[in-house]
Amino acid sequence: MADFHATDTGLLTDIGWLATCPPGGGQDGIGVIHQAALAWRDGRIEWVGRQSDLPPALRERETRSAEGRMVVPGLVDCHTHLVFGGWRADEFRRRLAGESYLDIAASGGGIQRTMRQTREADTEVLALHALGCLRAMARLGITTVECKTGYGLSFEDELRLLRVVRDIRPRTPQRIVSTLLAAHVVPPECNKDSYIQMITEDLIPAVAEAQLADFNDIFVEEGAFSADDARRILGAGRRYGLRPKLHVDQLHDGNGAALAAELGAISADHLEFTSDAGRQAMARAEVIGVCLPLASLYLHQPPMDGRAFVRAGVPVAVATDFNPGSAPSYDLPLAMMLACTISRLTPAEALKGATIHAAAAIGVATETGSLEPGKAADFAEYSADNVDDWMYHFRPNVCERTWIGGQVVHGTHLS
Ligand code: NIG
Ligand code: FE
Repeated sequence: MADFHATDTGLLTDIGWLATCPPGGGQDGIGVIHQAALAWRDGRIEWVGRQSDLPPALRERETRSAEGRMVVPGLVDCHTHLVFGGWRADEFRRRLAGESYLDIAASGGGIQRTMRQTREADTEVLALHALGCLRAMARLGITTVECKTGYGLSFEDELRLLRVVRDIRPRTPQRIVSTLLAAHVVPPECNKDSYIQMITEDLIPAVAEAQLADFNDIFVEEGAFSADDARRILGAGRRYGLRPKLHVDQLHDGNGAALAAELGAISADHLEFTSDAGRQAMARAEVIGVCLPLASLYLHQPPMDGRAFVRAGVPVAVATDFNPGSAPSYDLPLAMMLACTISRLTPAEALKGATIHAAAAIGVATETGSLEPGKAADFAEYSADNVDDWMYHFRPNVCERTWIGGQVVHGTHLS
């Protein structure tokens, strides 16, 4: 999808409204510039500001027009389970008819069912499915995607999924971050202790040796793993350089937020049932809170209280949680709209959550997530007046053009 006609330098003018989304400045500090222009060289941002302040040397440059559109940093989806085989639409219907997520899982459905379908799937079929989703995500303005494993659930199958993630990198324009989630659930052929032993003694060293993952994640929940399991598994990952991430407090308050703080996690994700004490522990330990409103909506759970996290001083990221069970959508703008309507973030806060805070939640904030000189020229143009207008109307996709490293990956490079 890369635009092979792109030049090494570029200039986008006639931007009606631009948000730089700098790292500091609070959850709603999005750095708005009206009537803006953006220049880049060799894939990196060179200058951004008011068009009337454009340095003379840049005025000579070949120019593309944003035709008054809104420009924001390329969106970052910091939590997806991108590599899986098969869908579970029948479970969606069963949940609507009254069965619970945990009951369906206990009857052989849920994560273990996707595990079976994933293990049976051909590796290239898994890769092509993931690549198809990434192509659609580029059309929504998404330029960086975190991909978790978690449907292999054996030494060989988890490594196979990590290799799929590695091998899709050169086949997609997006930046890809890889997370090991072997501790998703215990597979049926193992007891918990032997599975944890395999993860800590065999899998994590092999993953680290082959440099196949950036992070180590775990699902802490009834029917999955306990806080003590998390200490063992994430502790082992740490010794091999894999920073912890956690799925916590999704279906119950399991003191998961405090656990994430104790373990020095880069992020804690879900947090629907987190207490005030948990939020304060996260704020003190500077753990990023990842809001996943699509999962709350699909599981008919109370959503994460985004306002309470912002008030507690926790940086909040917003992501899709794309997976075939609890969140079968990769539509990050939709997740942002839901972060506003059900998790009570303002549109500006949701934008910061899907850009610089999301980039920080996956360790790439020095590279992407904000529009500042020196960072990657990853940005998207939307037909909206500003972020309030974008989040307020729920319309079909209004992303007109997506750029990664100064190259058009969706839309036309001509205008
Ligand atoms: O993040 N919570 C655990 N894992 C996923 C759901 C995976 C599935 O249902 O297949 C989540 O919601
Ligand atoms: Fe998840």
